[in-house]
Amino acid sequence: MCGIIGYVGTRDASPILIESLKKLEYRGYDSSGIGLLDHGSRLIVRKSKGKIRNLEELLRSHPLPFSTVGISHTRWATHGLPCDENAHPHTDNKHQIAVVHNGIIENYAQLREKLKKQGCRFISQTDTEVISHLIAACYKGDLKEAVQRSIKQLKGAFAIGVISKDHPDMLVAARVGSPLIIGLGDDENYIASDVPAILDRTRRVIYLQDGQMAVLTKDKVEVFTFDGKKVAPKIDTVSFTIGLAQKEGYKHFMLKEIHEQPGVLEAMLKTRLAGGKLKLEGLDVSDKVLASIKKVMIVACGTAYHAGLVGKYIIESLARLSVEVDTSSEFRYRSTIIDQNTLIVAVSQSGETADTLAAVREAKAKAKGAKVVSICNVVGSSLVRESNGVLYTHAGPEIGVASTKAYTAQLMMFYLFGLKLAQVRRSTPRSRINKIIKDLQSIPRHYKELLKKNSNVLKVAEANSHFGCFLYLGRNINFPTALEGALKLKEISYIPAEGYPAGEMKHGPIALIDEYRAVVCIAVASHVYEKMISNIQEIRARKGNVIAIATQGDREIAHHAHYVIEIPRIEELLTPLLAVIPLQLMAYYIAVKRGNDVDQPRNLAKSVTVE
Ligand code: AGP
Repeated sequence: MCGIIGYVGTRDASPILIESLKKLEYRGYDSSGIGLLDHGSRLIVRKSKGKIRNLEELLRSHPLPFSTVGISHTRWATHGLPCDENAHPHTDNKHQIAVVHNGIIENYAQLREKLKKQGCRFISQTDTEVISHLIAACYKGDLKEAVQRSIKQLKGAFAIGVISKDHPDMLVAARVGSPLIIGLGDDENYIASDVPAILDRTRRVIYLQDGQMAVLTKDKVEVFTFDGKKVAPKIDTVSFTIGLAQKEGYKHFMLKEIHEQPGVLEAMLKTRLAGGKLKLEGLDVSDKVLASIKKVMIVACGTAYHAGLVGKYIIESLARLSVEVDTSSEFRYRSTIIDQNTLIVAVSQSGETADTLAAVREAKAKAKGAKVVSICNVVGSSLVRESNGVLYTHAGPEIGVASTKAYTAQLMMFYLFGLKLAQVRRSTPRSRINKIIKDLQSIPRHYKELLKKNSNVLKVAEANSHFGCFLYLGRNINFPTALEGALKLKEISYIPAEGYPAGEMKHGPIALIDEYRAVVCIAVASHVYEKMISNIQEIRARKGNVIAIATQGDREIAHHAHYVIEIPRIEELLTPLLAVIPLQLMAYYIAVKRGNDVDQPRNLAKSVTVE
């Protein structure tokens, strides 16, 4: 997510704005900028792609004048590549107004066209720039009123900070859907996206609520509704440390990101499945081409590869299309059979994984004309630039090395893409498509339920954390879930853990089973449930310790497994979305019990940009 800072007071604003911005770097970003008013009431903006140190370098060569009011920003790109022009603050053409923004303006395209017709000249590809032009167009001398009239025209989520060259003593802020706090200082006041940014300057804060705006001067803060009604804001005193604040109170980023999953999928469904209508903006492959595809080739690494394996079951079931999945590192050295009728789907959270980039380049070289679609979380990343189309997951920065919210967002994207292919290829009855859409829309609610009832998972994790080896077994569409559960455990707890198709147990892994092993079995309600029960009985006969992931209401499983963790009942095809949640939590709890560095486990990098 983007980071916003604003300052109005009596001290020199620019060092304050830069130092506070650095405390938001953990949020992930690709460019940064600063805007302030010098006492000649000139609006000055400096911005730079890359890290804040690049902006500091720019300020060394182009120093800023003394100013007592300003805004700064770190950008996590949602619209438009990371580059200087797209960095914030954005201004109107007359350089009267400067704006920083966190969120997504859903109706920015219509507003942009309307403003262009009024003569506005756009510099960037961002949604944010429409806000600066809009406020300038509404400005008649009263900045608060201009902001008020502008934000009423915005649809979507936004937290904004605004300064105007005609008001060198004022900072205006507003929010709906994205967080924004106000920091109350002595003869100075702040706005910030998050508490850590200003914790070293003040602990007295106002958490601006959705639908509220604020007008700040150095010695006054007034809060209003968007309709201009004044409200008496609650002033809180922050008690926690900076470190805890960056994780919004969670002990680790991984736990925070596990809990962000309901919101991530809610946002995805809201933009991609509004009113049950599929909208895969960015796919950029025509229905005609999608209808002509003879094979899908999915390439990815690690967790993204597991998402690809689930994607195979989804696409084969819904689109009746042949799907091959391979790890990028294997694909690139294999004599693969692909041609222009193959659709390459590359999955990558970072979009910078060297093997996946190489695999895509290899595929494009081998099959001239083959289309490449990437499922990616980082806007403008290298993989995106190699692709014909991109389905952004918009899961926000994933800081924990162990991928969680990016994985479930990738799964969700495969369900949506599978539905798209089914629609185009008329391969699935409308009634089944509607049933799946309805079930998908219930996932965020099920997530909230699962995350609320995590005490059982904690109990199971603690009861089994002493085992020195884990086996994860699943069948059919939950075989990849077994692989993902094993990867989550091994990468943060360092316990040897192996995912396996349950049907393969008798072909080797059963030799491992004894009273010193824990075996996690994904035995949710499905057409292979009875087979899973047989596997569990085989494990029990060899004194293995069985942890079952089962469907709520299953009365039989408790007779077979030592521990049962339940997930809500849902269409079998969608069970991977739910079954993975307890496995993420279990891995997390075991790793914490072992005292490991959960967010930065040994030997691992968040993005493997080398072979
Ligand atoms: C997953 O928890 C790991 N961090 C790792 O396997 C990761 O999924 C893999 O490196 C792929 O990364 P990417 O999605 O950024 O390409």
